[in-house]
Amino acid sequence: MKRAYFFSAILLVLTITSCKKAAKTFTPDCSGAAKSFSTDVLPVFQSSCVSCHGSFSNYANICASKTNIRSKIADGLMPTKGNLTDAQKNAVLCWIDNGTPNN
Ligand code: HEC
Repeated sequence: MKRAYFFSAILLVLTITSCKKAAKTFTPDCSGAAKSFSTDVLPVFQSSCVSCHGSFSNYANICASKTNIRSKIADGLMPTKGNLTDAQKNAVLCWIDNGTPNN
């Protein structure tokens, strides 16, 4: 009986650790056309972030948090549920790395 508890405890630990998102930093590919805020970047925030972060709906607020936003996306920590596609990550990260133009 004790053995059964022991093994279920191990199983539980394994299940919990395997569900954690791997913190692997994403390196954006910025070789394409320069990213535009209104066409490429804002739609990503609208579809994936605004439901929880209502403030990420305009240029000024997004720029104010750009350093935090960049690291959360690059480390795959945001959005909390689901993932951005590589193209969406490229759009946001390359736009930030390009000096956050308001275009
Ligand atoms: C399902 C809700 C949810 C979604 C969707 C979501 N977030 Fe978050 N976010 C949170 C919560 C909760 C926290 C605070 C806890 C934490 O830091 O993990 C947070 C914290 C953050 C932080 C750090 C705190 C801050 O405000 O500076 C940043 C940056 C961030 N999120 C960016 C984003 C970006 C960018 C997206 C879209 C790609 C996004 N989040 C999508 C729930 C969400």
